[in-house]
Amino acid sequence: MVDLTTQVGSLKLKNPVMPASGTFSRDLAKVFDLEQLGAHVLKTITPQARRGNPVPRVSETASGMLNSIGIPSKGADEFVARVIPLFARYETPLVVSISADTGDEFAELCHKVSVPGVAAIEVNISCPNLEADGKAFAMQPEATFMVMEKLRQASPLPLWAKLTPNTGEIAQVAQAAEAGGADALVVANTILGMAIDVETFRPTLGNIMGGLSGPAVKPIFLRMVYQCCKAVNLPIIGCGGISTAEDAVEYMLAGACAVQVGTATFIHPEAMPTIIDGLAAFCDRRGIARVADLIGQVRDSGLSDEAVLLGYST
Ligand SMILES: Cc1cc2nc3c(=O)[nH]c(=O)nc-3n(C[C@H](O)[C@H](O)[C@H](O)COP(=O)(O)O)c2cc1C
Repeated sequence: MVDLTTQVGSLKLKNPVMPASGTFSRDLAKVFDLEQLGAHVLKTITPQARRGNPVPRVSETASGMLNSIGIPSKGADEFVARVIPLFARYETPLVVSISADTGDEFAELCHKVSVPGVAAIEVNISCPNLEADGKAFAMQPEATFMVMEKLRQASPLPLWAKLTPNTGEIAQVAQAAEAGGADALVVANTILGMAIDVETFRPTLGNIMGGLSGPAVKPIFLRMVYQCCKAVNLPIIGCGGISTAEDAVEYMLAGACAVQVGTATFIHPEAMPTIIDGLAAFCDRRGIARVADLIGQVRDSGLSDEAVLLGYST
């Protein structure tokens, strides 16, 4: 019997597989028992109610999809009063995801959702910092450090910083999140993309640009997980294009202690339990007693850590 448990800092999970924010719903209970998952990660919420972006909000691309949902939200009060209690009933640890336009609003929201029943807070710092230049907090190490410091003071709960791949400085941003007080990193959110309908000459998304996810992004995000693992001493949750147990194994070999599954669930609603079973079968086949024994085991001799952090490919 393979031991599937894994540790994300102080939080022990029964297995390493959880949903990616924005792709999980209680409707999945019609397909499988939600208690099978390592954790429940909810859609990002914002302090105030928001409508979200113009339609169309999703469009299919080769080996992936674009979305510009734009975080429609009923606001924090509704979330704390109604949504948290629905999920707090499960034994599976609950992770809430938050986002805001400024560091102070972020911290206030973080404090507000730090209530009984919440096991960890995923801070989606892949959103624009409207107080500064409008770039996502996690595009720059300085803004990452600033917002993480404020968030750290706002809550005693574990803080998982969700990074954006839309930066040229992923290792430095990871280090800034660690210095600011993050307990774990989630690598990564969607990468900015665009598609055009050649019949109408119009962008396929109402918002013109959107986030690319699915198998197309996996090599990029896997590389980022690998770089972040070399850069920091934090647990890292890999996310991006995972649709099979082997994809999850790759992320764990690169250094991830757990994984999130997003787009794959839209294609196969039972993707997450299938990946959990596949992880057990993979370890069993290879004589690996504990799935956690895979973490960071990539055989990667050759490049110095400095070269990895700088991203040398030759
Ligand atoms: C429809 C959709 C909605 C999403 N909403 C959120 C969100 O609210 N917050 C967030 O941090 N990430 C959100 N994401 C990004 C995912 O959590 C994940 O980081 C990304 O899709 C990469 O994983 P995947 O390739 O397995 O989908 C969303 C992705 C999709 C496809």
